[in-house]
Amino acid sequence: MKYATHLRNALLAAAAAALLVSGCASTPRVSAEQAHDVLKTSFTERGQAKLDRLEQDDVQKTCSYGPGTAPSKEVLDALEKAQLAAIKFPADGKLLGDWRAGERIAQTGTGKQYSDNAAVPSGANCYACHQITPQEISYGTIGPSLLGYGKVRGNSEAILRYTYGKIYNSNAYTACSNMPRFGHQNILTEQQLKDVTALLLDPSSPVNK
Ligand code: HEC
Repeated sequence: MKYATHLRNALLAAAAAALLVSGCASTPRVSAEQAHDVLKTSFTERGQAKLDRLEQDDVQKTCSYGPGTAPSKEVLDALEKAQLAAIKFPADGKLLGDWRAGERIAQTGTGKQYSDNAAVPSGANCYACHQITPQEISYGTIGPSLLGYGKVRGNSEAILRYTYGKIYNSNAYTACSNMPRFGHQNILTEQQLKDVTALLLDPSSPVNK
């Protein structure tokens, strides 16, 4: 999450820098390639943070659009379909892990930065964007509140699969979602994904009390 924000800020900075470089023409335009080139020169690889993180996949490219150039519904639908098909659901068919472990993962904001120990499992920092348990009163509001999530949605197979799948790859359901793709980008392990799914859906989780 911090990384995504950092990358977005860096992209904005790079676009601004490229604007300056391109001079004061009446309508300065910066191509995505130019912005990418500037961005590339401003990062060096450190620890686990490699420069391949600057390469965008189809979703990121399509969703990095400027004013007035939003992709069509057909394009977005096709993106979602492809992302949905790529979700790997657990082979054992069990989607619910341990909500207590899920709460720790939701609270942890370390993991993929160059200074983090790559051997330690990453956190998910869910609270940076969501209200989750009533006990935690410090949370961000970029995402919707998930308080009472399981109580409202129930525990049907469809809800289990949607919730696990959403956390695995948010863009499979909302093509240009801002939520990190925790499974798709190997931020969380399968067991960790099950644990955060349980945090939202287990009837004994404080989320559903
Ligand atoms: C960077 C912010 C951010 C982080 C971090 C984040 N989310 Fe989200 N999340 C969002 C946004 C924004 C939405 C709403 C847009 C959408 O549906 O993609 C959302 C939507 C959701 C939804 C769908 C809610 C619904 O009503 O259908 C679930 C479930 C969810 N997040 C769970 C999680 C969990 C669990 C974590 C941690 C593993 C997490 N999120 C981390 C931003 C975030």
